[in-house]
Parts: sequence; C-alpha cells; structure tokens
Amino acid sequence: MDKRADVFAPLAQVDQRITDLLEKVLEPGSLREACIYAVVGGGKRVRPMLCWHACVAVGGDGSRTLDVGAALELIHAFSLVHDDLPALDDDDLRRGKPTLHRYAGEAMAILAGDALLSAAFGVVTDAPMIPAATRLMLVRRLAAATCSMVQGQVHDTLGGMELESLEPRARLETIHRAKTGALIHAACVMGAACAPEALPASVDAVDEYGRAVGLLFQIVDDILDVEQPESVAGKRTGKDAEAGKVTYPVVLGLAGAKAAAAATLESALGCLKILGPRAEGLADLANLIARRTH
Ligand code: IPE
Ligand code: IPE
Ligand code: MG
Ligand code: MG
Ligand code: MG
Repeated sequence: MDKRADVFAPLAQVDQRITDLLEKVLEPGSLREACIYAVVGGGKRVRPMLCWHACVAVGGDGSRTLDVGAALELIHAFSLVHDDLPALDDDDLRRGKPTLHRYAGEAMAILAGDALLSAAFGVVTDAPMIPAATRLMLVRRLAAATCSMVQGQVHDTLGGMELESLEPRARLETIHRAKTGALIHAACVMGAACAPEALPASVDAVDEYGRAVGLLFQIVDDILDVEQPESVAGKRTGKDAEAGKVTYPVVLGLAGAKAAAAATLESALGCLKILGPRAEGLADLANLIARRTH
C-alpha cells in the first residue's frame, strides 16, 4: 500500500496515540513489550485511517477519531495475534517479523491478545473528545464488531454447523463479512459517529461504503494469499487452499475473485457519490485497498 498518498497524512498522529496508550496501560513490562511488539511497527493502519476519513466524509474533524481509531487498531492487533496461534492458522511470520507466539511464547501471545482486547474498550470509554452518550454507542458497536470477528474466525477455523447448508458463495460471503468485514465496517460507522453535525443521509452512505469495503478487504487478502510471495506480503502465503479455507479464489477461481473485488470496489465508490469531495479520502482508501500488495 502506498503510504505516501495524502490519505495517510494522519498516520504519524495515529501511531503516536497508539504508542502513548500502550506505554501507560500495561504492567508488567513483559506484557507491555509483547503488546508493543504486536501493535507497533509494520501495520498499515487501515482501520484508523478509515475511521478518520469517515469522520471527515460526513463533515467532521478527523482528529476527533484518534482514540477510537487507536482502539480499533488494538482490537485488530489482538485478532492477528490470536489468528496466528498454532490452534488457529499456525503462522510464524507477520508483518515481516516472527509472530508474537514465536517471539514471546504462546502463553504470552494469548495473554497479550487478551490485554489488547480489554485495553481497547477502556480507550473508547475514556476518550476525552467524545461526548459520553456517543462513547456508549461506540463501545456497543465495537463490542458487536469484535463478536462478529470471533464468530467469523470460528466458522473459518472450525467450520460452522449453521453455515454448512448455505451455497458456497453465500457461505463465503458470510464468513468474510464477519471475520474481517465487521471491524472495518465498524471503523467507518464509528468514525462518522465522531462527527456530531453529520446528516443521517451522510452517515448512511458511509455505513454502506463500510460494509462494501470490509468485504473487499478480505477478497483482496484471499487473492494476495494466492499471488504474492511472502517477501512482499510479510506473512506466509499460499496457505489458505492447503488449510482447506473457504476463500474467494477457491470458490470462484482467481479470475472470479478478481471480478468480485472489482465489483465490490465499484459498489463502495458508488456509495460515496452523495458525499461529494469530502469523501475523497474514503475513495482513495477503497482504491488503495483494492490494489494493495500486502
Ligand atoms: C490482515 O489485516 C488480516 C485481515 C483481516 C485480512 P491487515 O492487512 O490490515 O494487516 P496489517 O495491520 O496491515 O498488518
Ligand atoms: C484474518 O484472516 C481475519 C482475522 C480476523 C484476523 P486471515 O487469516 O486470512 O488473515 P491473514 O492472512 O493471516 O493476515
Ligand atoms: Mg485466519
Ligand atoms: Mg491468518
Ligand atoms: Mg489471509
């Protein structure tokens, strides 16, 4: 992903906020170090960026989303740490470095994930620039999205009795919307909620955009698993089919997966039309997500 694009201008502020939060929240030092290892250095920060630009797209000040964006990133980092564990995807490379359980051991990886998850909710609860009533809505949304992510991971990793009866494409979309789409969708909705002056029609447009871009993100991730060498992806690739995962290339073929990505990008961009130039950041992010290489 091209981080030089203007859309990533808030990155330094986002990273600083994340670092500050991690420095103060966790004792003992070994736990803090494990959390910093998992969160700092290497992530694209797509969720905080979507949150920031969603706020801007509905007429708000993006800097109001800093705590919310940091919380989203902590949840995301927790999901990656646990996703990589031997009991789930059993991966040893993440963001070009050893996964946390390889670096600090499995017990610490499990516990650091628990800490990141819990800390995230504290960050939203205490966000000083957000009114208390909005914080309640944000916590509720973050909790729902995190539960969806976990449900999606259950279906992805263990299979789900309830989904077995669905057609392969419907099953695939349900898993992807849950395991990855829900948190990305929430990042957009939560960002818009940080703009008190937003019109309902603008919030609805961002909501629809977030739903599309959340699905797009995982379709592209599935394609990268097939096409990218691990030196570019920063994580092991070529593993999904081998592990029996239900992915877009497995179900639709590579060309079908690319067509699905292109259609989902178009639908995400279409949602932004009524927002005008304020939504340029979200449009850029959707395009970057569609053509990312890692
Ligand atoms: C990877 O997410 C895992 C998925 C949800 C597909 P990202 O591609 O956003 O990972 P980082 O944070 O940039 O490493
Ligand atoms: C991850 O999906 C979804 C999460 C909730 C973390 P993947 O298992 O495909 O993500 P990568 O490829 O390991 O980053
Ligand atoms: Mg996984
Ligand atoms: Mg994985
Ligand atoms: Mg993947």
